[in-house]
Amino acid sequence: MDPVKLMKQEVGRAAAAQVKSGTVVGLGTGSTTAFAIQFIGERIASGELKDIKGIPTSFQASVLAKQHGIPLATLDDVDHIDIAIDGADEVDPQMNLIKGGGAAHTREKVIDGLAERFIVVVDSSKLSNKIGTIFALPVEAIPMAIAPVTRALKKLGGKVEMRMGIKKDGPVITDQGNMVLDVTFNGIDNPAEMEKDINNIPGVLDNGLFIGLATEVLIGEVTDGEATVRSM
Ligand code: 5RP
Repeated sequence: MDPVKLMKQEVGRAAAAQVKSGTVVGLGTGSTTAFAIQFIGERIASGELKDIKGIPTSFQASVLAKQHGIPLATLDDVDHIDIAIDGADEVDPQMNLIKGGGAAHTREKVIDGLAERFIVVVDSSKLSNKIGTIFALPVEAIPMAIAPVTRALKKLGGKVEMRMGIKKDGPVITDQGNMVLDVTFNGIDNPAEMEKDINNIPGVLDNGLFIGLATEVLIGEVTDGEATVRSM
């Protein structure tokens, strides 16, 4: 198997093993979490895991959860989330994250932020010494405000690009019907402040900075074709 896929698979398996019967589980978005969803489904099918409620962070997560037999609920049905498992695009040594590579960061922040334990699942390529150096920051904005939001993000020092669809002409449209601006900063000095400054721009729904939300980061690595998982 391709080493990156192997790292994602093993870290997804390790996170799925943390889920306990009778719990409410936030189901993240992306190719790494897809493995966790698959393994949670396998544990349910084998009878090892019972009475799980999954709260999906995106349309993709809900489709995968249904495919793998995970019962779903909404935030209207539960008063807490025990554990959330989600991927990330960049992780710094303080466990601050950039998310939104799948344009799902707005719902992800709601669900991951409510969870008692938020386990981040990444392969080692996502680790960075300074947040904002390896991945552009995704910002979800409502379509009628794209021009002023773009100007405001440039004023904050970012290089702004609208995310375009693949096999679809025009922009990516989020699950909420909005657009995503990818903003390159080449390193963010004060990520907590930047998160707030961006979210204060009228027309912005949320941005992909997740500050102080992760409780654990599991990192998949491959050495000599052998996959291992370590905790940050
Ligand atoms: C989606 C996300 C994903 O979790 C993030 O992009 C990581 O994805 P992958 O596991 O496919 O690398 O934030 O909005």
